[in-house]
Amino acid sequence: MSHNHNFLIVTYPLQGHINPALQFAKRLVTMGAHVTFTTTIYLHRRLINKPTIPNLSFAAFSDGYDDGYNSNAIVDLSTYMLELSSRGSEFLRNIILSAKHGNHPFTCLAYTLLLPWAANVARELQLPYALLWIQAATVFDIYYYYLHEHGDYITNKSKDATCNIELPGLSFSLKSRDLPSFLQASNIYTFILSSMKEQFRILDEETNPIVLVNTVDEFELESVRAIDDKIKMIPIGPLIPSAYLDGKDLTDTSFGGDVIRVDSEDYIEWLDSKDESSVVYVSFGSFSVLPKKQMEEFARALLDSGLNFLWVIREKKVDEKKEDDELSCKEELEKNVNGKIVKWCSQVEVLSHSSVGCFVTHCGWNSTTESLVSGVPMVAFPQWTDQSTNAKLIEDVWKCGVRMDNNRDEEGIVKADEIRRCLELVIGGGEKGEELKRNAEKWKSLGREAVKEGGSSDKNLKSFLHHIGSI
Ligand code: UDX
Repeated sequence: MSHNHNFLIVTYPLQGHINPALQFAKRLVTMGAHVTFTTTIYLHRRLINKPTIPNLSFAAFSDGYDDGYNSNAIVDLSTYMLELSSRGSEFLRNIILSAKHGNHPFTCLAYTLLLPWAANVARELQLPYALLWIQAATVFDIYYYYLHEHGDYITNKSKDATCNIELPGLSFSLKSRDLPSFLQASNIYTFILSSMKEQFRILDEETNPIVLVNTVDEFELESVRAIDDKIKMIPIGPLIPSAYLDGKDLTDTSFGGDVIRVDSEDYIEWLDSKDESSVVYVSFGSFSVLPKKQMEEFARALLDSGLNFLWVIREKKVDEKKEDDELSCKEELEKNVNGKIVKWCSQVEVLSHSSVGCFVTHCGWNSTTESLVSGVPMVAFPQWTDQSTNAKLIEDVWKCGVRMDNNRDEEGIVKADEIRRCLELVIGGGEKGEELKRNAEKWKSLGREAVKEGGSSDKNLKSFLHHIGSI
């Protein structure tokens, strides 16, 4: 590559943000760029297996909680965001200026969502910048629509559960429950919306803002174009390690940004011992904590189904722990020969294993795209934020999964019978399951094609680099 690209990447300190951002960094490096990857000191210290490849370096800044924090102690998360913003801005300013005065100035700043202040610093120092949107293009459209044209929150009309919400440019309609949870008026996370609003205000002020999206054009054809006249989205995903995607680099087997250690890798051996497409993989990402009652229902359903299952039950953080956390059927689960419980695993490796035939997921965007490119049909159990929109895409647009939260009891719990019904639909060998599998295979090949030489994401990333090089 003739141009001397030197990227600065800053990411919000969460696993679901770090994974795609780090993969983006690695991809830029393989295309000849230098990258400095930055996040908070606390998160940076916890990164396990950081990739050690030439031209990728790491830097970290203090958010004021270098030794971690008890999330209950941050009573006001908006105060945390303000602190992150002022300390992060100061750090970016210094690192950008010192590179400018050295012999290798940065050529572009890329930042993940919830960090609009990063764009402000880039503007102040006249450095080209790009938003790395790590969620679905559809979610971007929804926020754009609601935060721009519709007021902050969903209106009473759209709140009516039965009402069809039509968004410009999208042929599928949405129900209020399909919208990101932060748009619900009762939501306590108002600072998230303020941050999104600020983000859109900045993009609006640019003539040609750059929004790179961790999606695939073919996954979200309409959504990518829905607001084309205002903001052009550039799909460059899926941001997943090469070994599980295009196979170009078989040494690229992990994101390298795990903050939870895999305690043992014998789950791969265990998967090896199972029949093809026979295992249900259950995981709810890096953040969501399900109520104990819901976990009990899952345990019952999995045990009674007789199916093979690999279930990630994360160890709770100190401040999340409760005295009566233990599941009543703990012993039964441990003794069960069909099931295996782990605290964390290499999810991309698990999903690409031939014995996995179904993914019970909270529909985080990374989990969703990882499942799509592995051709694994899903049972969708969205919890909050963008996950319900992703569940809508899984069930109604891509038709490669079923949504499990359709039937909850008065306490909001999905009972074991309903969980089993969904599992059996997906992996029970019936007609519906076959159809879901066929569709999943289709998305798998489209996702993999996109990152190959000449594929849509490959072309988009190259022309983005060309564009940055020409500024
Ligand atoms: C958060 C939000 O919740 C999500 O909705 C948003 O789209 C991104 O940020 P998270 O809840 O952690 O992310 O879910 P997800 O997006 O699925 O990311 C989890 C990541 O952790 C995935 O890349 C997954 O592969 C990885 N993971 C999870 C593991 O490697 N091992 C595990 O055991 C569990």
